[in-house]
Amino acid sequence: MNKAIKITEVSPIIKVRSYRCHVTQNKWVNSRYKHLCLTSENIDFASMTQAGQFYQLKCPQTNDLNPFLLRPMSVYSLGASQNNQDKNQIEFLYNVMGLGTQALSSLVIDAPMDIVGPLGNSFYFKPSFKKILLIVRGVGLATLAPLLKQAYQHNIGINVIMSARHQDDLMQDQFLQGIDLNESYAKMHLNVHCLYDSDGSSSMETLETLVSHILKTNTIDALYTCGSERILMLLQKLLINYPDICAEVALEQRMACGMGVCLSCVKLFRTQDGETKFRRICRDGPIFPISEVAYFG
Ligand SMILES: Cc1cc2nc3c(=O)[nH]c(=O)nc-3n(C[C@H](O)[C@H](O)[C@H](O)COP(=O)(O)OP(=O)(O)OC[C@H]3O[C@@H](n4cnc5c(N)ncnc54)[C@H](O)[C@@H]3O)c2cc1C
Ligand code: FES
Repeated sequence: MNKAIKITEVSPIIKVRSYRCHVTQNKWVNSRYKHLCLTSENIDFASMTQAGQFYQLKCPQTNDLNPFLLRPMSVYSLGASQNNQDKNQIEFLYNVMGLGTQALSSLVIDAPMDIVGPLGNSFYFKPSFKKILLIVRGVGLATLAPLLKQAYQHNIGINVIMSARHQDDLMQDQFLQGIDLNESYAKMHLNVHCLYDSDGSSSMETLETLVSHILKTNTIDALYTCGSERILMLLQKLLINYPDICAEVALEQRMACGMGVCLSCVKLFRTQDGETKFRRICRDGPIFPISEVAYFG
């Protein structure tokens, strides 16, 4: 199993609390996903939030929809990480599915919106990394997008494998937002592979061949992925031969409190001495070493 590397702790100075924001944008990016931008005067979200962390969103009450629990959403982008330097801005990319996200999708410009955070831990990342590999499936790209930008800003070589049902679902532009693909560094050091269910190219066999090839032909310092259990199982198998790669996964789970109290988000993990142990995705994660995930099926 790949070496477990200490997960970065959330800075103790940052206080988790509720922030009153206002909607500056809430627009469809395709038939299933919306891009929500919020701003809160005098709140420097960019400085207090790290890649991989999430906020709990208080969804609005509408005539038909009355969501009760807050919904956890990864931070997709922070104003200062784009070129506009708007540190008061925080952005989310969300799949419109059930009660809460349908209510979210009804938010109009200037509507008030409360969010709680920043919550959870962040990815282990070193500016001295030379090359990283990101394997992204579905809306997990929202969680990995700030990390991609961070790596790009530090001139790290980036291999990306994006997988989706079909081209419209891939959201490649959303994932690579803020990166100038014509810029010489991106041309030389950013490799993006796109795989689709619609043409069979996202099969586990194809993915295994591609990941194995990248691992064999590159010296990868760190590998990051998000939620898909099948991809996670494949990576656990492949990474046995690469114990020095820092390999992490951002996990998703139904949540209630989002702060480690209610225990509704626990999952089984392996400890370094071979035992298994329940951990809270919201408080101990959502980022975990890939080798430690022990629940499947
Ligand atoms: C850390 C994290 C980051 C995420 N980031 C993103 C993201 O960036 N974009 C995105 O689209 N999605 C993200 N998700 C998933 C997102 O939270 C869910 O898709 C969303 O909550 C679904 O809400 P809904 O109202 O559409 O669905 P519904 O099914 O109507 O409601 C689901 C909600 O009900 C509650 N609930 C249901 N069952 C249980 C249970 N057994 N125990 C406790 N509570 C329960 C939870 O609050 C849950 O959020 C993330 C999830 C996590 C945990
Ligand atoms: S959601 Fe309550 S402990 Fe994780």
